[in-house]
Amino acid sequence: MNIAKQRVVVLGGTSGIGYATAEAAAGRGAEVVVVSRNEQRVREAAGRLGATGLAADLTALPAGLFDEIGPFDHLVYTAGEPLSLTPVATMDIARAREFFGLRYFGALDAVRAALPHLRPGGSITLTTGTASDRPGPGWAVASSICGAIEALTRALAVELAPIRVNAVQPGVTRSPLWGTGEGVEQLYAEIAATVPLRRAGEVTDVADAYLYLLSQPFTTGTVVTVDGGALLV
Ligand SMILES: NC(=O)c1ccc[n+]([C@@H]2O[C@H](COP(=O)([O-])OP(=O)(O)OC[C@H]3O[C@@H](n4cnc5c(N)ncnc54)[C@H](OP(=O)(O)O)[C@@H]3O)[C@@H](O)[C@H]2O)c1
Repeated sequence: MNIAKQRVVVLGGTSGIGYATAEAAAGRGAEVVVVSRNEQRVREAAGRLGATGLAADLTALPAGLFDEIGPFDHLVYTAGEPLSLTPVATMDIARAREFFGLRYFGALDAVRAALPHLRPGGSITLTTGTASDRPGPGWAVASSICGAIEALTRALAVELAPIRVNAVQPGVTRSPLWGTGEGVEQLYAEIAATVPLRRAGEVTDVADAYLYLLSQPFTTGTVVTVDGGALLV
């Protein structure tokens, strides 16, 4: 499917994987709308992309957001706050519930609100992570969110057909999500030492998967893994 002149809305599109996806879609001639919480980052990202930018906290979707956006073809959801990893023994359960707020309920609510505005032939692409299949200690909630997103993807693909619904499952990918400094470089080095493709992912690697899923007309209910082979070892 040629996405030139189609409208692509990237919720979480001002940074990291979402920004790279917005940039790749714009590079193919799509008209891009990016949404995230921080107004200044929205302005800067939209300016760099030549896109429309809107500021919204997706943990509490503003009622009129999609009316303001208008009709569009593809919804991409990449919004996520920095990871909060906690052993179950010391977990604050209220905080654990909150953690589902943006990545799971934010995505579900965005899908619900987007539906009346999605054009025929449209698609929805959600975001999970390899933590669903390969959790470590402390990852109980993050891993559960990923599993829930993957189940949601399949359920929505059935319920919303012919709208296509898919998800991208990145492995560890260099992005602002992880912060900066020695600790994070150490993490990327550890990944490079262990995964078959010998490096951490780049946001452009992952963006390719979103572009594939939104432009491939016969794929739905699928989770595409982009992890350098990490799940194999
Ligand atoms: N990077 C990885 O290694 C990796 C691996 C697996 C899965 N993932 C998942 O991929 C997604 C994107 O990650 P990333 O690495 O691209 O992260 P990122 O660079 O930190 O980008 C996150 C985006 O989410 C937005 N955001 C955060 N809280 C928001 C809120 N309450 N309302 C609206 N927007 C909000 C941020 O915008 P503002 O700055 O404006 O808040 C930003 O645009 C996340 O769900 C993450 O869990 C990432």
